[in-house]
Amino acid sequence: MARPILVTSALPYANGPPHFGHLTGAYLPADIFVRYQRLIGSEVVFICGTDEHGVGVTLAAEQEGVPYQEVVDRWHKVWLDACTRLGIEFDNFSQTSRRDPHFGLSQEFFRRLFHNGHLEKKETQQYYSAATDRFLADRYVRGTCYICGHENARGDECPKCGSWLESSKLLDPRSALDPDEKLELRDAWQFEIDLAPFKDDPAIKPWLDEFRKGLKPNVVTFVFDKTIEGEGLESRPISRDLPWGVPIPEQDLDGESIGDVAGKVLYVWFEAPIGYISSTIEWARREDRDWRRYWIRKPGEEGARLIHFIGKDNITFHCILWPAMLAWQTLERDFEGRQGPGPGEEYVRPENVPANEFLNLEGRKFSKSEGWYIDVQDFLERYDADMARYYLCAAMPETADSDFLWREFKVRTDELANTFGNFASRVLKFAAKYFENRVPPLVGLEDEAQAIAAAIETRTQALVDHIENYRFRRALAEFRGLAEDGDKFMDRTKPWQLRKTDLDAAGSSIHLALQLLPPLSVLAAPFVPVLSARLRAMLNLSERTPGPLLPAERLEAGHALGEAAVLVEKVPDEQIEAEVAALRARAGDAPS
Ligand code: MF3
Ligand code: ZN
Repeated sequence: MARPILVTSALPYANGPPHFGHLTGAYLPADIFVRYQRLIGSEVVFICGTDEHGVGVTLAAEQEGVPYQEVVDRWHKVWLDACTRLGIEFDNFSQTSRRDPHFGLSQEFFRRLFHNGHLEKKETQQYYSAATDRFLADRYVRGTCYICGHENARGDECPKCGSWLESSKLLDPRSALDPDEKLELRDAWQFEIDLAPFKDDPAIKPWLDEFRKGLKPNVVTFVFDKTIEGEGLESRPISRDLPWGVPIPEQDLDGESIGDVAGKVLYVWFEAPIGYISSTIEWARREDRDWRRYWIRKPGEEGARLIHFIGKDNITFHCILWPAMLAWQTLERDFEGRQGPGPGEEYVRPENVPANEFLNLEGRKFSKSEGWYIDVQDFLERYDADMARYYLCAAMPETADSDFLWREFKVRTDELANTFGNFASRVLKFAAKYFENRVPPLVGLEDEAQAIAAAIETRTQALVDHIENYRFRRALAEFRGLAEDGDKFMDRTKPWQLRKTDLDAAGSSIHLALQLLPPLSVLAAPFVPVLSARLRAMLNLSERTPGPLLPAERLEAGHALGEAAVLVEKVPDEQIEAEVAALRARAGDAPS
């Protein structure tokens, strides 16, 4: 029996709105992948939620002067709305501030690691702000990245090189609350996880070797060359002194005190990925399903396929810290209140982490504060979600950073209208006008019939191969390519000329052209689901039963078609010029 698949998109921080960079990095490709899996009849669950702890949130709330919960609830809703409008359909979208089951499960992760000897109390040095009388964790400190030299690194992450940083090591450190405040380093103890054993641990090595084989080249370079073999793995603090987060548990697995942990919470990058599991549990409770089917297996069993879609700045956490946390949960004993794997069981580990690079906007980073952004909600008031999906997929930063370019948005969506839209309308209108809106019979044209069948087969197989290997741009090109094959076929057989001398021959040509439309509607579905459904309505085809994509659906001679209409509307030129002008005006640049 086929293995169930659990797909996740990185849990977005609930402290600001999504931009197309986020959406193209980790959400759209996951949705395309999931829609494809649903088409072929896989058992797949798509899990996400907002990442609601950590300093991004506390900073935002303190700057606004509102409660933490208010900030995260607000952005949770905004993210869910934006994703929904873009047709990104999660099975569950949770919040890591929902206590049940997330807090208990996160504490269980900590307690198991503690029991297994992977956590240690260590004296560390941390920046302290005398003015506000507190330790400045993570993003409360900004400074220059000691790995790549980027000047505006956050305490724990460098947005430029993606490194996991120690805030005490930042060069030229300053407080995010008051850049002029003089900071002092003070001793503070934290729990640390020792990652040094990661690469040779027999509980990890076989998985790591297998994992490496499936990763995209950009991810392999980051995980192996840059991190494991480059900077090396060391001990990292996984607790923080913060007023907002999942408290460090007070007791170990035997009920013994862990020490004075008052005021300490789990580091957000320790606790957030556990949100993937908590969100799955929430889904399973609601749908009366078994979450363990997706997360737990017996050694030697394959278990579910776990696939994490993320942006490149999340690679270390998903490829090193998180798999280590999962692997080191295994215990040969039971304990009270256990939720995770029992004796003789283990958590599954990620099969793949398809990470994308970054999408910029017209050559510059998206920046809300600099006015250099596109408001997603506003965009979706003016343009169809499928137009955004099509363009964002075509421009997806799969192997290198790429750009959202307004003029390119026009060029690409025109291309969709001129190939897919135009071909379908042309064929359907012809059938409506000359063949009573039914599929005309096929007589002769054996070679052409074979060519059409071959095009469907080759394009479909190539698309399947690309999607299964996370090459969404190339998959999209195969979908478009099938429409182009159709256009060429029309130009070759010229039914509009034939019609004048031999209506039956024209009908045969239209019969064959029509055969391309059901598979086109299917290949379109992961990328442009609304257009796919619209085309199926025009073909008078009901929703397709999930299953293999080949052999493709056929339209029998005599089949009554639906109503032909314009499939894809083009974006007017003036509108694009207006968008570019508005962007520049907002960012304060001179109009170009
Ligand atoms: N909130 C993080 C970010 O936006 C991603 C967290 S992913 C998770 O970069 F695994 F921790 F959930
Ligand atoms: Zn850096």
